[in-house]
Amino acid sequence: MSTWLEGALRAAIVTYGCQMNEYDTHTIASELVAGGHMLVDDPKDAELVLLNTCAVRGKPVEKVVSLLGELRKERKAGRDVKVGLMGCLAQLQEGKELAEKFEVDLLIGPGAITSVLPAIDELERGSSSGMVERRGFDPELHDLMPPAPTGLSGFLTIMRGCNHHCTYCVVPQTRGPEVSRRPEVILAEAEAMVAAGACEITLLGQNVNSYGLDQPGLPTFPELLRMVARTGVARVKFTTSHPMNFSSRLIDVIAEEEAVCNFVHLPVQSGSDRVLRRMAREYRRERYLDIVREIRAKVRDVVISTDIIVGFPGETEEDFEQTLSLYDEAAFEHAYMFIYSARPGTPSYKHFEDMPREVKTARLTRLIEKQKEHSLRANQALVGRELRVLIKEIGRDEAYVVGHSDQNHTVLVPRDQVTSMGLKQVRIEHATPHTLYGRVATPGSDAYVPLAMAS
Ligand code: SAH
Ligand code: SF4
Ligand code: F3S
Repeated sequence: MSTWLEGALRAAIVTYGCQMNEYDTHTIASELVAGGHMLVDDPKDAELVLLNTCAVRGKPVEKVVSLLGELRKERKAGRDVKVGLMGCLAQLQEGKELAEKFEVDLLIGPGAITSVLPAIDELERGSSSGMVERRGFDPELHDLMPPAPTGLSGFLTIMRGCNHHCTYCVVPQTRGPEVSRRPEVILAEAEAMVAAGACEITLLGQNVNSYGLDQPGLPTFPELLRMVARTGVARVKFTTSHPMNFSSRLIDVIAEEEAVCNFVHLPVQSGSDRVLRRMAREYRRERYLDIVREIRAKVRDVVISTDIIVGFPGETEEDFEQTLSLYDEAAFEHAYMFIYSARPGTPSYKHFEDMPREVKTARLTRLIEKQKEHSLRANQALVGRELRVLIKEIGRDEAYVVGHSDQNHTVLVPRDQVTSMGLKQVRIEHATPHTLYGRVATPGSDAYVPLAMAS
């Protein structure tokens, strides 16, 4: 009898997109293992390939389409492999059309990952003709507690969905309305991660600071953050924050709680009020800058990063210059910069006309220059200083190990300097716009995990 008929499958999950998708992949993987399936790293060795997709911009969708094309070709050539389309793309009409075109076997939306095992079962029994589909939002998902990830740092989703309506964005459609997980579940998960050896927990949500606002009786985000910070974990980070509901209370908790990192990722998207209005972002430039000023005044050595979209439909040269000037005023230490991508089904796709690609790329190039200038200046100011770094892995250049500081800087340390992974005091010796280089201040001091055990 083949493995397929016995019901146990060799399954591979390919993950695209954000940290919430990485967290979901961990949950899906745990479900598969609980169902008796075996996980393999290489999709080429798998009998079931699950694509946990992202649909936020055209690029990640193109990558999925190209893998679906390859898999279809291999199947036509006789390879016996089942294919599942999961993640954000699976929830969209665009995803359903692609699933039909590429003849995938499973279509499971991000709110329906609780159904992955029954859906595979249905597929194996051949009880449905054609594609097995599970979409929609299962309330049980929020109480699911995946086993604590092994490793020095881990993600913890505290809420799902998004209640905003930014005109360019697919996420409200793909992930549905905001639902906060119960604090008991979150704290139990955090404690399990600490018990499994985590030094760092990153709380995840599309807009973490609206945590608790969707149901009566829940703590607010600042309250939850404080609770997680007191579980004994060395470090807590969180992402993503939204300028709306980013309260003074939250800034106080970041400043007061030892374990909460002095790092805030606060997407601004544009420096022009006209563009912010067309994007349906609920704040204006001055309000955003007020938040930045308050964070910098209260949180010592803070690093603030942001997301910016260039070339939103109708963005004039003057609008774009306002984004450049806001960059200077906010003095971001880091930024993720995106060219506007017109996504089917979004309001801006329906109502506004996209601008020529060359204009968008020229603006992106100018913005990147600005970002490099600021990041280099901020990083150079750290030369000679000591930062606490969580060293987690061997670098792409194997002569170094890589870690992140409390403020989320990427820090490289010569490998022969360290005997173990974990939190170290590192003295910074050299800076580039994206990376800091340093040496362990007190070699051999705080050993956590032997190098051999690191991933
Ligand atoms: N919830 C978060 C971010 C979600 S998506 C927030 O609102 O801040 C991550 C980033 O992708 C966004 O901040 C935005 O900068 C970018 N993005 C989303 N849709 C996009 C699109 N259609 N084109 C280009 N960038 C986009
Ligand atoms: Fe998208 Fe806006 Fe929601 Fe962020 S806040 S996920 S950009 S709709
Ligand atoms: Fe992408 Fe969905 Fe995350 S669209 S960015 S995987 S929430």
